[in-house]
Amino acid sequence: MNSNTHREKFGSSFGVLATAVGSAVGLGNVWRFPYIAGENGGGAFLIIYIAFVLLLGIPVMLSEFVIGRKSQKNIFGAFRTLAPGKPWFTIGIMGVVAAFLILSFYSVVAGWTIEYLYLAASNSLTGKTPQALQDIFSASSADSWYSIISLIVFMLATALIVKTGIGKGIEKYSKLLMPMLLAIIILLAIRSLTLEGASEGIRFLFKPDFSKVTTGVVLQALGQSFFSLSLGMGVMATFGSYISKKESLGRTAVLVSLSDTFIAILAGVAIFPAVFAFGIAPTEGTKLVFITLPNIFNQMLGGYFFSVIFFILLLIAALTSSISLLEVVVAYFSEELHTSRPKATWIASGAISALGLACIKSTKIFSLFDSFSSNILLPLGGLCIVLFVGWYMKKQLVKQELEENGKPALYFRAFYIIIRYVAPFAILFVFLNQLGIIA
Ligand code: TRP
Repeated sequence: MNSNTHREKFGSSFGVLATAVGSAVGLGNVWRFPYIAGENGGGAFLIIYIAFVLLLGIPVMLSEFVIGRKSQKNIFGAFRTLAPGKPWFTIGIMGVVAAFLILSFYSVVAGWTIEYLYLAASNSLTGKTPQALQDIFSASSADSWYSIISLIVFMLATALIVKTGIGKGIEKYSKLLMPMLLAIIILLAIRSLTLEGASEGIRFLFKPDFSKVTTGVVLQALGQSFFSLSLGMGVMATFGSYISKKESLGRTAVLVSLSDTFIAILAGVAIFPAVFAFGIAPTEGTKLVFITLPNIFNQMLGGYFFSVIFFILLLIAALTSSISLLEVVVAYFSEELHTSRPKATWIASGAISALGLACIKSTKIFSLFDSFSSNILLPLGGLCIVLFVGWYMKKQLVKQELEENGKPALYFRAFYIIIRYVAPFAILFVFLNQLGIIA
């Protein structure tokens, strides 16, 4: 049987977009982006971040789409099909390791959103002072049974969806939920902007102060752009294999990247004015969102309603992202180790929960997993992917895959130059620079 003929395809262009945006938009935008930007100089970080999205993010995403749609396979099968007998499939192994590490701390934070949903719904966040909200976060994120149970509940939800196959399910949910998330974040941003003292936060986010920029900041921006766009570990390649030949890959990559960046900036606009208005330090790290947003809700008409809706949506945004992460691991287990899909799902999510538990027990392990996967594994994966498409694959094949209505894509030359010459050197440069090998 030819498995390709049975390969599921996305139902519509909007479905492709919503699903890819569903993977990209998640805790990375609302939870991770604001505190990473806060710790790395605000506006200057934002400019470097946007430059990376445009210069590297879009071309890397396009390269992943090409690998997936050309091969019609999962990330491992893809490299084996496109480069038989060559060691390129190791990129896939790196992807699986990255998915493991990311998902283990990701589901801890997603667990916090479950706790916060509970707190919001039971009216435990309203009327609290900023200090009281800080204390609530310390208690919620602590090594407690609540955190452990929330982690397990979240992994269970992810596993149940992945186990039964994701095609129609995720596409359907993403189409409904992503627009809702967008609407809520816009509302929050407006409320935050109209708080007294909001301008200081806006200045912090948009006024570049390049004296804060070190090589570490540049690496963080690179890592964050890959993390937020779900790049460097085969998620987008896998989605690419479900995109029909009629679809324009270029348009999809641009729209996904811009929407993701837009939502990250909106989250920044929702958070920083509130940070300054309530006298919270922008460098509060992982807890930033969980303290500032409840503060905004307390200042809002209908704050109770919005806080509940917001944590539901944040949870769903996390879920559509975690599904894409677990899918990479499950595809590997079930295809390489020849286990059934449900069994692969339970083994993978059990192991990931155990690692997640380690992240709850030790903040050191938490940040090690986070920074090693985002700042090392993802950019390294991205580097290998552009090298593969730019230097290993036949130019003609790549060109063909990017054709639009039978005509060569207008952007092809620019894209090809970037993935051959610009992207590899840019990524390498950031790496070597960080390692202190070149100044
Ligand atoms: N992009 C998601 C977020 O911003 C997280 C995510 C999903 C991810 N899939 C990924 C990160 C693949 C890296 C690689 O929350």
